[in-house]
Amino acid sequence: MTRLIKIFDTTLRDGEQCPGASLNPEEKLEIARQLAKLNVDVIEAGFAIASQGDFDAIKTIAQTVKGPIICSLARTKKEDIDRAWDAVSYSDKPRIHTFIATSPIHMEKKLRLKPEQVLKQAVEMVKYACLLCPDVEFSPEDAGRSEPDFLYKIISAVIEAGAQTINVPDTVGYTSPWEFGRLIENIIKNVPQIKQKNITLSVHVHNDLGLAVANSLAAIKAGANQVECTINGIGERAGNASLEEIVMNLKTRKDFFGCDTNINTKEIYKTSRLVSNLTGLMVQPNKAVVGANAFAHEAGIHQHGVLKARETYEIMRPQDIGLTESKIVLGKHSGRHALQKKLNDMGYALDKDTLEKAYQRFLEVADKKKDVSERDLEIIVAEEIYIVPEDYKIVKISVTSGTHTRPEAKVELVFKGKKVKKAAKGSGPVDAVYKAIEQLTKVKSSLVDYSIQAITGGTDALGEVTVRIKDNNRIYVGHGADTDIIVASGKAYLAAINRLIYATTQQ
Ligand code: KIV
Ligand code: ZN
Repeated sequence: MTRLIKIFDTTLRDGEQCPGASLNPEEKLEIARQLAKLNVDVIEAGFAIASQGDFDAIKTIAQTVKGPIICSLARTKKEDIDRAWDAVSYSDKPRIHTFIATSPIHMEKKLRLKPEQVLKQAVEMVKYACLLCPDVEFSPEDAGRSEPDFLYKIISAVIEAGAQTINVPDTVGYTSPWEFGRLIENIIKNVPQIKQKNITLSVHVHNDLGLAVANSLAAIKAGANQVECTINGIGERAGNASLEEIVMNLKTRKDFFGCDTNINTKEIYKTSRLVSNLTGLMVQPNKAVVGANAFAHEAGIHQHGVLKARETYEIMRPQDIGLTESKIVLGKHSGRHALQKKLNDMGYALDKDTLEKAYQRFLEVADKKKDVSERDLEIIVAEEIYIVPEDYKIVKISVTSGTHTRPEAKVELVFKGKKVKKAAKGSGPVDAVYKAIEQLTKVKSSLVDYSIQAITGGTDALGEVTVRIKDNNRIYVGHGADTDIIVASGKAYLAAINRLIYATTQQ
């Protein structure tokens, strides 16, 4: 008999705690909608008490996104639990996830509490959360370094207090798969209420030693039936366990694990791209499952084998994660209907306005580039549906650069219907464009990161630029795509500036 493993996605909470991955509420909603299409069981939408932005995002997700349980994190404190409940209560399926640290080092140095005090606080606050919310999860933080006997005691007590899900976190990514699997086995043995009350036993592992997925799988093998994970494995420090890797392990090795999930794996690739685009956190090319090279066969001997029978070197099918080969699909003579049909086939259902904008953008690209591929379309759609509030828009960018000249850029923007322009010199053409934009928008920020990627092969490929700028310790991401990489660079920088302006006006 196969066991069903619940997938608890914490991309919007623990994932967003990743340095530089701050998302605005609209972006969080877009990701939550996609997570619902992916069919995750639980969306941890944020930490309601952490900020007004977090609270608003959780509330909007709870109001809008149907299907998964919508959850907020809360410390074992009344004010946290009240705030979490205020945000998630709008969902048909709300959950409060409350936690307190149980390892000797955390209790002594961070909480300055004795184990009995931690136990009392946990029990009281689980009882309190249960008065508000029908579904309460409890986590003994840093369980990986906690005394097992204390863990059994606190877990039994919070189950008696009403918690229906117990999550065992390896907060600092310290354990090894053998140890972590044994810990889960021992918890099941020593806390009889888990079986008696049909409690969901969950795990949440960080990747500090690169073992997050291995530890999660060891825990599943040992009897855990929920895993907490993030798209692309993003999260604090080295990240969390990657959702797509856990799910595809369970699917590909069903013979070994004997487990199913509810995940619609065909949505994996799209979700990965969306999270990468909105957070600005690139997926490394050799990343398992969703990396650009995950299904590329370079070596001649491999290609030969794959051509004869895919299974010789391919253990998963690219289609299983929703990856269609990057075929040439449309050209400049393709009409709106052809574009709409293709986008529908790719899984995008755009409203009329967005489709029209995407079509106009498609025509611009098709004019410069003979063949427009699926990957190009993905970028075009991304530009139109990602929520980039546009205070400033680019009208024109031109540059002079080359050997023996100091590069100069002329930039024309439109701001609230009024055109403004400026020329500036820089150490290179991108620097010159950025200086002109900075002078026009009067937004001073530091450029933390600039990267450029060719979307498809060939010298006429769309170049996609991602920039991350920093202001007041917050990071803002911007993307821009164009066949002209200087224009793409300008678009990306301006998108990040627009985000910064938007965020500061929301505060
Ligand atoms: O890593 C951790 O311990 C957490 C808990 C709050 C579940 O994120
Ligand atoms: Zn965590």
